[in-house]
This record gives sequence, C-alpha cells and structure tokens, in this order.
Amino acid sequence: MTSSDMRIRRIVQDLRSAFVPTPSYAKLESHFRTLLEQRRADVADGIVNNARGIVLVGQSGSGKTTAIRELIRQNKSLLQTDPTKDICEFISLQVPSPATMKFVGAATLRALGYPYSGDKQGPAIWDQVKVQLKLRQTSFLHLDEAQDLARYQTDKERQSVVNTLKSVMENSFWPTGLILSGMPDLKKIVNQDPQLARRLYPIEIGRLNALRDVTPVLDIVQKYAARAKVETKPCVCSEGFAQRLMHAADYEFGLMAEITVQALSKALFSDGTEARLELQHFADVFFDRSAAIDVMNPFVAEDFARIDPRQVFEFDGENA
Ligand SMILES: Nc1ncnc2c1ncn2[C@@H]1O[C@H](COP(=O)(O)OP(=O)(O)O)[C@@H](O)[C@H]1O
Ligand SMILES: [Mg+2]
Repeated sequence: MTSSDMRIRRIVQDLRSAFVPTPSYAKLESHFRTLLEQRRADVADGIVNNARGIVLVGQSGSGKTTAIRELIRQNKSLLQTDPTKDICEFISLQVPSPATMKFVGAATLRALGYPYSGDKQGPAIWDQVKVQLKLRQTSFLHLDEAQDLARYQTDKERQSVVNTLKSVMENSFWPTGLILSGMPDLKKIVNQDPQLARRLYPIEIGRLNALRDVTPVLDIVQKYAARAKVETKPCVCSEGFAQRLMHAADYEFGLMAEITVQALSKALFSDGTEARLELQHFADVFFDRSAAIDVMNPFVAEDFARIDPRQVFEFDGENA
C-alpha cells in the first residue's frame, strides 16, 4: 500500500466515525442526563424510587443504534460502561428472535455476563436478571430492536412483556431504567400500558422533509467534504441534488449521512486526494448499494420521486 492509499484510508475511517449532531440526539442526551442525575441523587440520599427510562423510535436507517452508541461515548466520564468490569452501569443488547420473555431474559443474563443454563422458565430467569442488575449496579438497560418484543405475540403474551419491563424499573431493591429503541411499532407496546408510557421519555427520529431539510442536508454534505478536505462541484450544492439525496436515503437521516460518506470515499479512492465530489460519485454509490439501472437511480433518473429507493435488484448477487 502506498502512503497516499494509507492517507485516504485514514480519512475514510475518520469520516465513518464522525457523528453528526441532530436535534433528536440533543433530546436523547438531555433526557439521559436528567435520569442519571436523578439516579445519583437517589443513591446519595439512600432513596429507592421507581426508575424512569427512554423510548427512542425511528425507521430502519434513521440512526437509533448510532445515537445510543454516541450517548455511551459522550457519557463515559460520568458512567461506568465497560461490560468486562464488575460494575457496569449501562448494559446494551439486541432483542433476540423469537422475542419470548424467556429468550429475552436469557439474552439479558448473557449480556450481564452471567452464564445461563437453559432449563428455567421466564419468571425465574427474570428474577435472576434482577439479581444480576443489582450485583453489577446496572442503572440502565438498553434493548435495541425492541419492536420485536411485540412480534408474533398474543395479547396476553404482550401484556406479560409489558409487565416484565415495568417490574425491572419498579423492582424495589434495585430499579433499572430502561432504554428501548426500535421501529415505530414499538410505540404500540409502550402505549398499551399508560403506566409504562408515563415512565418513558419519548423521542422520535423523524424523517427528512424534501422542502424543509434542503439547507441542512446541503450543509452536512459540505461539512463532510470539508472534513475530508475534498472540494465539491456545483452539482452537489443545488436544491435538486439535496432532494435526490434525501430520496435515495428514503428520507432517513442516518442513510443520508451514510451515502454521503460512501460518495466521498468513492471520490477519494477513485480520484485520490485531489478529488472533487460530484453527482456521479453519489450515483455510483447508489448503484453499488442496489444494482439499480440508471432509470431506477434517484441520482440519475429524471422522475426520481417515483423510485422506491429500498428496492434491491436480484441480479446483484451480494444484496439479493
Ligand atoms: N448522527 C449520525 N451521524 C453520522 N452518521 C449517522 C448518524 N446516525 C446514523 N448514521 C449512519 O447511518 C447508518 C444507519 O444508522 P443506524 O444507527 O444503524 O440506524 P438504525 O439503528 O436506526 O437502523 C449508519 O451507517 C450510521 O453510521
Ligand atoms: Mg439499529
């Protein structure tokens, strides 16, 4: 590898790790700080209050998982977050499938580092989860893809999920705040029980708006390009371009950022550090992602608003 390749790799790595602050992230951080301060005050005063939590919803690609990762990173100095240490105040896991109470309990025990032997029933597993949460002093339990908690469940099972989640926060000897993130179906689970809904601060990562978000989107493209020290051509500075990019990203913030990073990487890898970012780089990225021919490519097609940007063609072996 030449030194210029190495440099480009480093720039791309830096772009990938960059987090673009958003209003919904600011809200997440502020609610989290409130919860954390309340918790610290309760512990200092020797009071056991019911915990509260956060529910973060958004479509796939909106940026939920990334936002929680950033939240942990930003709060490293205030919170013990290393899962290999005895004390771990923030534990994060993905809801397993199928999301029965037994499976979710077992996955939570595993995330807590507790060797689980598979012969117990749901309630007994959750009793063990609560013991471990206290032992590890876990104040926050994050369940990602939490919309799956409601999938393929009967009403009765769904109620038992809700009751279990509430009991984790109410648990009188060690209440743990829940952070649930998932697709919009998650709202249904939370709203099924007013008590649960009251305990969770709701945050929604909204979709981009083709008119309102033109300027912010163009701004983000410019900021990424500046970070990579890459010049931009006028074709990636227009209102029409911003709308094509939003459409290609299915109006999801995270996907918009991801496509921009990929377009810059493409520019750098094909044209070197003298590259100038242009529309074709975005079109090539969309082709790589979807194998879409030009009439189905939002960066190329005249009538791009008709295109379903999530459609992936089967002749592209990798994505099929
Ligand atoms: N605030 C952000 N800044 C930069 N990139 C982001 C941001 N939010 C999301 N992304 C990017 O968008 C993509 C999808 O984000 P992800 O968190 O996986 O979405 P979700 O969990 O909602 O499906 C990832 O590649 C991620 O790096
Ligand atoms: Mg995710």
